[in-house]
Amino acid sequence: MPANPICVALDTPDLAKAVALARALKPHVGWAKVGMEFFYAHGVAGYARVADTGLPVFLDLKLHDIPNTVASAMTALMRIEPRPAIVNLHATGGLDMMKAAADAVAGRSKLIAVTILTSLSDDDIWQAGFETAKNTEAHVRSLASLAKRAGLDGVVCSPHDLVGIRHDLGRDFLTVVPGIRPVDSATQDQKRVATPAAARAAGADILVIGRAITGAADPAQAAQAIGAGLDAG
Ligand code: C5P
Repeated sequence: MPANPICVALDTPDLAKAVALARALKPHVGWAKVGMEFFYAHGVAGYARVADTGLPVFLDLKLHDIPNTVASAMTALMRIEPRPAIVNLHATGGLDMMKAAADAVAGRSKLIAVTILTSLSDDDIWQAGFETAKNTEAHVRSLASLAKRAGLDGVVCSPHDLVGIRHDLGRDFLTVVPGIRPVDSATQDQKRVATPAAARAAGADILVIGRAITGAADPAQAAQAIGAGLDAG
């Protein structure tokens, strides 16, 4: 694992911009994250341009389908060169889907599960029909336990869920945490947020940070400042 916990989310459909950001940010971050917005526009070739910068890439495609389909998709992702450092799926796809995916990945990349998106509040989750999930944190904790049972390496979770997940699942289970906002920055569409230092203190292994870095006038300087804040904390 890179020592630097910052994973920059390259959320742009612009290939040249993503590659330029990856190059400029490489000294200041540990990872790059490529998601649907970029991958659907540029596919494997675009992904490879980012990965060729030498940054380990989290390929954030959040798969969610029946076990056979997800396992086949994971098998295809494992053929990509250079291989993604991290791939993921939605834990709400269930135990069998996660087990099938873990078998397909077979330890070649870290496989993690999205629990509940950090853009969803309790009300949003209720509205989406998870009526038994009256408490988001309890829901996240049970999904994280299910992911561990399925043999996954870790979860994507909000900063607010970290203490409970660490309590239930120990220190070795990877926690990848979006919804990170440096002090004084806008929350935008994220609802369950924390500062980088607070998330690290609560046990986050990897901090996924997008717009607070990529939307800054000087992204390298913004990443460096966040890293310096973490070192100081
Ligand atoms: O710009 P911002 O820092 O909010 O970007 C957060 C990134 O983390 C986005 O790429 C988003 O897709 C991703 N993400 C998230 N919540 C999750 C899983 C991933 O915000 N639960």
